[in-house]
Amino acid sequence: MMNIEDTLAKRGYLNKEIPEGLDLKKEINRLKEEKNAVILAHYYQTAEIQELSDFLGDSLQLARAAQETDAEIIVFCGVHFMAEAAKIINPTKKVLLPDLLAGCSLADACSGEALMEFKNQHPGAVVVTYINCDAETKAVSDYIVTSSNAEHIIAQIPKEQKIIFAPDKNLGAYLSKKTGRDMILWDGSCIVHEAFSLERIAQQLAENPGAKLIAHPESEPPVLEAASFIGSTSALLDFVEKDAAETFVVATEEGILHEMKKRAPEKKLIPAFPEDYSCQCSECMYMKRNTIEKLYLCLNYEKPEIIMEEELRVQALEPIERMLKMSEKIK
Ligand code: 13P
Ligand code: SF4
Repeated sequence: MMNIEDTLAKRGYLNKEIPEGLDLKKEINRLKEEKNAVILAHYYQTAEIQELSDFLGDSLQLARAAQETDAEIIVFCGVHFMAEAAKIINPTKKVLLPDLLAGCSLADACSGEALMEFKNQHPGAVVVTYINCDAETKAVSDYIVTSSNAEHIIAQIPKEQKIIFAPDKNLGAYLSKKTGRDMILWDGSCIVHEAFSLERIAQQLAENPGAKLIAHPESEPPVLEAASFIGSTSALLDFVEKDAAETFVVATEEGILHEMKKRAPEKKLIPAFPEDYSCQCSECMYMKRNTIEKLYLCLNYEKPEIIMEEELRVQALEPIERMLKMSEKIK
């Protein structure tokens, strides 16, 4: 019989004792210095992890930060595909993820093998894939995009070129409408963004006269149609900071509200409600697998680590490098 520690390690994270009374924040900062490590965090992480990070950003900004860092260790506080992308881009660094099971429903919706088969069914089409996918899927893609640069990259693909977009059907439909391009869409979605309820959002807007709905493009078409602004996490943050409205209903993962409140302390920010009436939250259960305790353990023991086969890494790097090159002008 396996002991609980081995079982948990197999399930994605270390189950080591943390000494009682240890000041975790202080220890994490000390270990970071001692080991020349950098903490990169996504806006959907918990507030305390965001506060401990050296760099906080959206998927594109984090990929760039992983490419540029001089640190020897990258502790990636985000989900698996993000940490994996950091390893693909910067293979000489040790890349750690506090919980290896921090996955993503979009990444789970598509495999490299299935996408290859789909590609074969649509001869002549190029594959544009959202960065929310695993390395095998990236390896069979022609272009990788994030929600910040997708429109910009698609605009650079010749007009007559047929496009397959995977794995997010909502982002794909939004991009197809925005760019006026016909796209063959993969049937994947984000469990957080597909759960928003237009009915409840309408109620939230009615209760807050003058409020604006802002949404991430992973949300479903009816929510996007009702939104005053649609954008990536970093674009949503910029919008709230600069727009004249005083109240916003925010249709994306609620971790972003921490940074939003810091950037626009005088504004009222309301997380959009999901369909499920028993819950008012819109948290990504994958993003929230990372905790400050797991961050400390991972930095201390330098585990769990992202390990990849070199052949796969090189294949997945090609479309990521194309993305970084094609979107140099995007902030
Ligand atoms: P951004 O690239 O906008 O940060 O989005 C990442 C993500 O996972 C959204 O659910
Ligand atoms: Fe994936 Fe959705 Fe979580 Fe983003 S919010 S990591 S798309 S499951």
